[in-house]
Amino acid sequence: MTARKVLVQMMGAVSLLIAAPSAMAQVKEVEVVHWWTSGGEAAALNVLKQNLQKQGIGWKDAPIAGGGGTQAMTVLRARVTAGNIPTAVQMLGFDILDWAEQGSLGDLTDVATKEGWDKVVPAALQNFSKYKGKWIAAPVNVHSTNWVWANKAVLDKLGVTPPKSWDEFVAALDKAKAAGVVPLAHGGQPWQDATLFDSVVLVTGGGDFYKKSMIDLDDATLKSDKMKTVFERMAKLRTYVDPNFSGRDWNLASAMVIKGDAAFQIMGDWAKGEFINAGKKPDTDFLCFRFPGTQGYVTFNSDQFVMFKVGDDRKDAQVKMALAVMDPAFQSAFNVVKGSVPARTDVSNEAFDACGKKGMADLKEANAQGKLFGSMAHGHAAPAAVKQAMYDVITKHFNGQLDTAKAPDELAKAVAAAK
Ligand code: BGC
Repeated sequence: MTARKVLVQMMGAVSLLIAAPSAMAQVKEVEVVHWWTSGGEAAALNVLKQNLQKQGIGWKDAPIAGGGGTQAMTVLRARVTAGNIPTAVQMLGFDILDWAEQGSLGDLTDVATKEGWDKVVPAALQNFSKYKGKWIAAPVNVHSTNWVWANKAVLDKLGVTPPKSWDEFVAALDKAKAAGVVPLAHGGQPWQDATLFDSVVLVTGGGDFYKKSMIDLDDATLKSDKMKTVFERMAKLRTYVDPNFSGRDWNLASAMVIKGDAAFQIMGDWAKGEFINAGKKPDTDFLCFRFPGTQGYVTFNSDQFVMFKVGDDRKDAQVKMALAVMDPAFQSAFNVVKGSVPARTDVSNEAFDACGKKGMADLKEANAQGKLFGSMAHGHAAPAAVKQAMYDVITKHFNGQLDTAKAPDELAKAVAAAK
């Protein structure tokens, strides 16, 4: 064989090798596990579905209802154990790192490098999008939990303006109660109780206390007198919810404020999605403000999409989905509807309403001032086992099954056992 022939044969083999992956028949569909089932959430999800459809990628919906994603994570675990692995999954904070540690997640580093994600995703988010230097998740948004949502007409009638401190908040809640309006729309589910807890910890002890207790899990701080004040305040909030709060979904609590049956809801900014979906306008129909006394701080959570290691025949679709999620125009369109703010720092705030613009400005400021902390309630402060241990104590106390005086010790004990 001549040298030329050998070379030609070798080149043929190489080109075959290169051609092999793309020649493999690609599944043009993604099966996505998520918990976006409320009206506002579904509207936002549609933006993503349509975006993918435009690229020829079909959407197989695998919704698992339950705010905060607790149920979704339980179902996911069962599915993976049974070998029924979804293509992509909505996931929060420490759960992402847990699955990465188990080696279950696909590597997105190639596409991330090509697209320059390192430069546009804030470090606080990258802590959860990367594992051992590799990109393993695409962040779609940043939500935050220290928000209050209020019905403007109800507040006007009560002669109440947005409170600026804990005491002012209590005074406003008292006014609503005296007028026969449900002061606080709330759903008694562990993750919702914990969402209140994020803000109460922050307003009671400030950023250092939040970090020491919720993130560093410092034993002395968890059982401190200040933590007792936190539980006292949780018990106080409990006096403002209606008798039917137990088990109520968060979006039904939002609906109480939307309809004017309740004055306030303490909830992450996904609540805004419900107001918008109901045709309500910020400043006209509803008000959004930071939990009184926590302005400047942001307790955040970020929805990210992870791609599970499934066959090579699904890689194209996974990459396309990751690209779609990180597209700047999409991040604007999606988050306008969802109530969150873009995960990318290079997206303009132009299309956002007053609450969205405030959310973006607050995030930037908190990040610059060292006042941006991961939300305990939404899996960005501590691993799932610790979060769950905290949920148990907080909910037990909120339901009057644990004395305020004993709650800090119980919390410290539960965290120590789960660490
Ligand atoms: C998620 C939001 C979602 C909310 C209620 C949070 O954990 O980050 O995207 O809307 O739960 O379901």
